[in-house]
Amino acid sequence: MTLLSLRRDNEIAVVTLDNPPVNAISGEVRKGLVDLADQLDADPSVRAVVLICAGRTFIAGADVREFGKVPVPPHLPDVVDRIEAAKKPWVAAIHGTALGGGLEIAMGCRFRVAVGSARVGLPEVNLGIIPGASGTVRTPRLAGVETAVEMVTGGKPLSAAEALDAGLLDLVVGADLEAAAIAFVRQALTAELPQPVSARALEPVSEAFWQAARKTAAKAGHQAPLRALECIRFATENDFAASMAQERQTFLDLRGSDEAAALRYVFFAERAAPKPAAVKGTEPRAFATIGVVGGGTMGAGIAAACREAGMKIILIERNAEAVARGLENIDRIFAGGVKRGKLSEEGRADRMAGVRGSSDYGDLAAADLVIEAVFEDLAVKRSVFAELDRVCRPDAILATNTSYIDPRLIAEGLSNPDRFIGLHFFSPAHIMKLLEIVPAPDTAPDVLATGFALGRALKKIPVQAGICEGFIGNRILKRYRAEAEGLVTQGVPIAEVDAAMRDYGFKMGPFEAQDLGGLDIAFLQREGARAAGQIVAETLGDILVHAGRKGQKAGAGWYDYAEGDRTPLPSDKVAALLGSRISDNPSRPSSRADIARHLVGTMNAEGQAILSEGIATCAEDIDLVEIHGYGFPRWKGGPMFAFRATGDSAE
Ligand code: 3HC
Ligand code: NAI
Repeated sequence: MTLLSLRRDNEIAVVTLDNPPVNAISGEVRKGLVDLADQLDADPSVRAVVLICAGRTFIAGADVREFGKVPVPPHLPDVVDRIEAAKKPWVAAIHGTALGGGLEIAMGCRFRVAVGSARVGLPEVNLGIIPGASGTVRTPRLAGVETAVEMVTGGKPLSAAEALDAGLLDLVVGADLEAAAIAFVRQALTAELPQPVSARALEPVSEAFWQAARKTAAKAGHQAPLRALECIRFATENDFAASMAQERQTFLDLRGSDEAAALRYVFFAERAAPKPAAVKGTEPRAFATIGVVGGGTMGAGIAAACREAGMKIILIERNAEAVARGLENIDRIFAGGVKRGKLSEEGRADRMAGVRGSSDYGDLAAADLVIEAVFEDLAVKRSVFAELDRVCRPDAILATNTSYIDPRLIAEGLSNPDRFIGLHFFSPAHIMKLLEIVPAPDTAPDVLATGFALGRALKKIPVQAGICEGFIGNRILKRYRAEAEGLVTQGVPIAEVDAAMRDYGFKMGPFEAQDLGGLDIAFLQREGARAAGQIVAETLGDILVHAGRKGQKAGAGWYDYAEGDRTPLPSDKVAALLGSRISDNPSRPSSRADIARHLVGTMNAEGQAILSEGIATCAEDIDLVEIHGYGFPRWKGGPMFAFRATGDSAE
């Protein structure tokens, strides 16, 4: 395969890069571009060069797979400089996405032309690095300091229209990008060429702007956004060459950081998860119409997510009143989209037009896949599945969203158990990315494949989980919470445990999170197990619930709360209630770093058990569950990666 091909349209050279899947810049591409720049400069019959890409996108950035290796020359900044220094003007013809090094190459070109659907961005911070080929130096010169700061520290791409507005693009065109770019550059040759971007002046910004930007960048929790900001600021106060040197050094520092290694690992794990080996080559079933049984918290979120992805919904509830409430729950989600400016009123009406509510299970005859989200009660779920068995088409897939009930028990009695599967969504289901897919022993391969296809269609991170109490995520959560209580019983203050986990990168510590979600849910689950004859020791949480301290909604939980205020306040009452259970273990973890290490180690140990029992197929899946379902900081890679990276063992 030729990575770079050359054709001529009279005096215009057209260079096409074809490096599937996303035209990432490898060492070979860098060398090829420099060679072509030399060759085209030497050809007197060439007056301008169009750089365009084959396939689905313009250059999506440097090849991330090369990041763990020693950099090989020519380095990307030199390639960008070489293109900018070409005697003939280059024009970047952009479709799909021009990201990271892709946009940097485009900024080395004299002009940038894009189709309307294109997006351009500098997402390097998402990989724990900063732009390394002039993104922090050329972007402020081309688009202004404010736009540069937003793009580089936030990592979010701009639409073609926004990029045109910001000065990053010269022209947005319709369908035939190559012809339009050729026509554009021909026209441009009739006038004086603009200055190369590196030679353009920078508009200074106020100190107040830098202070505000610093605050925003610090919120990310990891160092790349702040370091990127420092580089942009440096570029506004120093000349081009010094700024490039500063950027390069920062880029190389960060490239070798633990955070970057973790974020790269997560990047590839997220891309591998939706297409696991277990479903390779298996054709999924169709799922154009989704039945959802139960229109409460989860059912409404699941229905909204599926509808948003274009599926038709049939919502089943117990009676007309409950149907109306369920439909309202779904509509409230779309109304929220309108409020946030993400959806128009027409869009909301269109979404709801595709949702039909009914209390007649017979209406589910039209469904390809039915997801049950009724009360967490085995008898109720079994009665629902008996109905589904009766009314659904024999090829329709039947799924349960149960959190804790053994799916095998729910499936008992089904006449066709190979179409049954667990699809465990997380609340709020229209927002949370995680989807645990739980096959039962009889689940057919194409039913499992359909679970993953649904996950992809919903743009979720689907992860296969085996059957055990709590599957992957809730099982680790239970152990984590128990261990956090264990630390408290050894004399670590509750607030210190929470602060340690916040310092580690969680938005909330385990006790703050329980106060937010409510202590009663896990309490009721333990009570259920006790009622069923299991021996479940009294937890500290049980003591608090018995005292009416169910969390924020009760105004009291692990912490006290002032009326109308969500700030957790350490509580003397809690200290008194738990006093008899608390000792003073001198060898307990004392520093916050030790506390966090201990608790992440506990998650890791449970993860190891989950792996060895075959509940998860790989460590990456466990990490994705923790990151996407439980707020584990992405830049730490997850509890499995965190220990792999240090080479330590959690035990
Ligand atoms: N390097 C290597 N492989 C990459 C890649 C990259 N920059 N970007 C994507 N890929 C791979 C993916 O791993 C995936 O591989 P697979 O098929 O084997 O799993 C394949 O390309 C397709 O990727 P997606 O599944 O993500 O495809 P989408 O169509 O959903 O998205 C995309 C395409 C928007 C380009 C998305 O892949 C993306 O955001 N990529 C990352 C872009 C990025 O971060 N660029 C900056 C890189 S760092 C840099 O440029 C440094 C420079 O400043 C020096
Ligand atoms: P919910 O109480 O908000 O909603 C349950 C709905 O089911 C109610 O609207 C009820 O009217 C309806 N329902 C009950 N019996 C029915 C029947 N026979 N036919 C039709 N509808 C019926 O409960 P929630 O929180 O939505 O939970 C539903 C399921 O999802 C449970 O199994 C739960 O364990 C699971 N789950 C809950 C999560 C959460 O955070 N709330 C997260 C992940 C899973």
